[in-house]
Amino acid sequence: MEIKGKDFLRLFDYNNESLNNLLDLAKRLKQETKTGQTHHILQNKTLVMIFAKPSLRTRVSFEVGTQQLGGNAVVLKQDEINLGTRETIADTARVLSRYADGVMIRTFDHNDVVEFAKYSDIPVINALTDLCHPCQVLSDLLTIKEKFGKLEKLKLAYIGDGNNMANSLIAGCSIMGMDISIACPDGYEPDETFIWTGKDVSINSGSKIEITTDPFEAVNGANIVYTDVWASMGQEKEAEKRKKIFAKYQINEKLIKKAADNAIVLHCLPAHRGEEITEDIFEKNAKIIFEQAENRLHAQKAIMASIM
Ligand code: CP
Ligand code: NVA
Repeated sequence: MEIKGKDFLRLFDYNNESLNNLLDLAKRLKQETKTGQTHHILQNKTLVMIFAKPSLRTRVSFEVGTQQLGGNAVVLKQDEINLGTRETIADTARVLSRYADGVMIRTFDHNDVVEFAKYSDIPVINALTDLCHPCQVLSDLLTIKEKFGKLEKLKLAYIGDGNNMANSLIAGCSIMGMDISIACPDGYEPDETFIWTGKDVSINSGSKIEITTDPFEAVNGANIVYTDVWASMGQEKEAEKRKKIFAKYQINEKLIKKAADNAIVLHCLPAHRGEEITEDIFEKNAKIIFEQAENRLHAQKAIMASIM
């Protein structure tokens, strides 16, 4: 699959081979950066970064990543750009296509990113929408591959809200031949289209997708146990209600006992200790969780180097 010039909106737009190529490049760029090698892959290129939601990891890792590849980044916050309200998304896309070489967007409605990409002449990267977070999951796959030396046949259990992270994990796992078991309360399941597309992709990749309400069933024998906040950005008003609904979906000592012996715990961060994960389990896995955060940098450099 040729990906130069291609948007990075959903992992399902990529196949096993192209994701493996991105992971190999990320691994190489990580090693080379750590041994002091400088890169000029994005020399004279500019990434515009649009944020309608807060960010720590995405903002810094994309900006630093662009610099590490010899390029420039311009950051636009929502109060500066007002995506979709000050002027049409189509006009914004056509203007930025004249100035920059790539655009990264974090916003609420996934359709806004799709609309932007439709009118943009330069590649568009989804840096989180309410629907999915593909950059995070590419980084997670890199972290898992570094730890286990492979992806195929591993089992990932995702415990909590069937949100953007759950959706992208379904995509990443099904494409890469990993089993994924998701435990969430009734009514908080992942997006149906992602589940069905994942099942379709699994016919070839051999992965298993399971959705349950029982966290113990999901974690049983898992190599990777993954969680995310119970109330995502934009759902702050539901936080108290969700704390009650999700109470039995906490990653704690008792739940972790059901996982495989060498299981790791991953969290995309930010974490709410005492809610989706206990302080104790978080700290026991802190080394790999912060490696996972670091890998945002290397995975996104691989994306930019390949598509911009
Ligand atoms: N995991 C993640 O995307 O973090 P930020 O929201 O801080 O960018
Ligand atoms: N589900 C979370 C992910 C944060 C990286 C959110 O959308 O807020």
